[in-house]
Amino acid sequence: MTLSSAARAAALALALAATAAAAATLSPGRQAVVAALGAGDAAAGKAFFFARHTGGKADTPACTACHTTDLTKAGQTKAGKAIDPMAASRAPDRFSDLATVEKWFRRNCTDVLGRECTKSEKANVIAYLLSI
Ligand code: HEC
Repeated sequence: MTLSSAARAAALALALAATAAAAATLSPGRQAVVAALGAGDAAAGKAFFFARHTGGKADTPACTACHTTDLTKAGQTKAGKAIDPMAASRAPDRFSDLATVEKWFRRNCTDVLGRECTKSEKANVIAYLLSI
């Protein structure tokens, strides 16, 4: 094994350990949300969250219209009311109550896409937001 492949193997082991630790440290509420929606794909969730969609309201073509593109910062409703950051690392209480998560997905997806999000779209978004 060359030095660089040893370094890569060590980095991979660390990344895997970090992923396992992150999953293990999810609060019981968050574990229940993830269990209900299923494991998602964080990269797909990020792409979905930042994409411009059609079918919804003209002034909210993307999730970022209210949540902004820096999810570690506060967002704003169309009426100008502050929305707490979406990044799980900045929002310990988020994504821990399934009814709340489902209620806002229903409302926000209807605004942005003109339809409800699918279960896998929701799982992907939650996987992404829990990763940041
Ligand atoms: C019209 C403004 C607006 C748009 C557009 C919007 N949201 Fe939201 N979102 C809100 C508000 C307001 C809340 C509830 C207040 C809060 O949780 O701080 C919320 C809450 C949420 C929650 C609940 C989080 C929790 O605390 O459990 C999720 C998940 C969510 N939004 C995802 C999305 C996704 C995905 C999109 C794009 C499809 C989106 N939002 C687009 C305004 C918006």
